Amino acid sequence: MTILFTETQINGMRLSNRFVRSATWSAMAAEDGRSTLQLVNLLTKLAQGGVGLIITGHAYVRQDGQAGPNQLGAYSDELIPGLRDMAQKIHDHGGKIVLQASHAGFFANSKVTGITPIGPSALEGMVKAPRREMTHQDIRELINAFGAAAMRAREAGFDGVQIHAAHGYLLSQFLSPKLNRRSDEYGGAIGNRARVLLEVFRAIRGAVGRDYPVLVKLNSQDFVDGGLTLEDSVQVGLMLEDEGIDAVELSGGLLISKESGSIRKGIISEDREAYFKDEARAFKEKLSVPLILVGGIRSFQVAERLVKDGVADYLSMSRPFIREPDLINRWRAGDLRKSTCISENSCLTAAMGGEGIYCVTEKNRQENP
Ligand SMILES: Cc1cc2nc3c(=O)[nH]c(=O)nc-3n(C[C@H](O)[C@H](O)[C@H](O)COP(=O)(O)O)c2cc1C
Repeated sequence: MTILFTETQINGMRLSNRFVRSATWSAMAAEDGRSTLQLVNLLTKLAQGGVGLIITGHAYVRQDGQAGPNQLGAYSDELIPGLRDMAQKIHDHGGKIVLQASHAGFFANSKVTGITPIGPSALEGMVKAPRREMTHQDIRELINAFGAAAMRAREAGFDGVQIHAAHGYLLSQFLSPKLNRRSDEYGGAIGNRARVLLEVFRAIRGAVGRDYPVLVKLNSQDFVDGGLTLEDSVQVGLMLEDEGIDAVELSGGLLISKESGSIRKGIISEDREAYFKDEARAFKEKLSVPLILVGGIRSFQVAERLVKDGVADYLSMSRPFIREPDLINRWRAGDLRKSTCISENSCLTAAMGGEGIYCVTEKNRQENP
């Protein structure tokens, strides 16, 4: 039996295999962030398809933190019944589900929210639309919003919560020296830039308790000049480990990192797969909490090698599951051919076009065999 299908657990959350569906905004929630039948059906297919752990798309913890249309929300108790139904359906099909809690910061979509986006710094001259630098009061309120959203996830029956601190959204903005120009205790050295994230973690831990899985998605590097470095990111990982984080999902890149971003194109050969594996090695040298690696994993053999070589404990994928929700069952049944995802990102275009996410290539193939 391959190590990929052995049972493991993360702070009591029992997982039947080492495959994770990385958080994926699917543009299928209602306009006000409520869960919908379409979204629940999409996630249910993943549970039926054998994915060990499903992480929801980023769910905004406060209305001013919404990044895009039809994004899942976790900002109000009124959203709990829809979230409860989602968690229940996944459990009915033997899956596990974690809510990704997020605030988009100055990448919030003001056309959708009607509110001037906030962030660690106003970044005058760097961004076109106005941004507002957060006050200490804003920071306190933000921390509380994360704590409250995590509590809602627990109340709704989710198996855990993941803090989104990657890809240039608000907590990643604080970590990044390129985007965080503050001179108070939240800016400057990495201990300061990580302060908000640590305070968010403590608020969440305080709300949900020690026995509830709390994960983080973290940039290993920003891959832009003057951005978060690998060395600093490892420091953040160590600080979170000291505080009691249950697992780190390692990604990289900002929304502005272009071809070095988090969702890279052209993963057509094994050597291009797992494009944050070198960074994962650096993490594994220093950290002992479970490491979930994301980014361009496409082959069973590559996935198995990453775990056997101690580079990662879990393998996380997004685009392959948009094309093949039953990929894990296919692999489990012995068909070990790699994912048919060609990583050209038209799924993202579909989501942005308001159609809800789907694999455009697969649809074209089916329509024009
Ligand atoms: C359509 C789409 C939506 C995404 N939404 C999120 C999200 O909500 N939160 C997040 O952390 N990452 C998000 N990502 C990034 C993925 O989780 C993942 O890090 C990235 O796609 C690399 O993995 P892959 O090569 O397996 O696709 C999204 C990616 C795609 C393609």
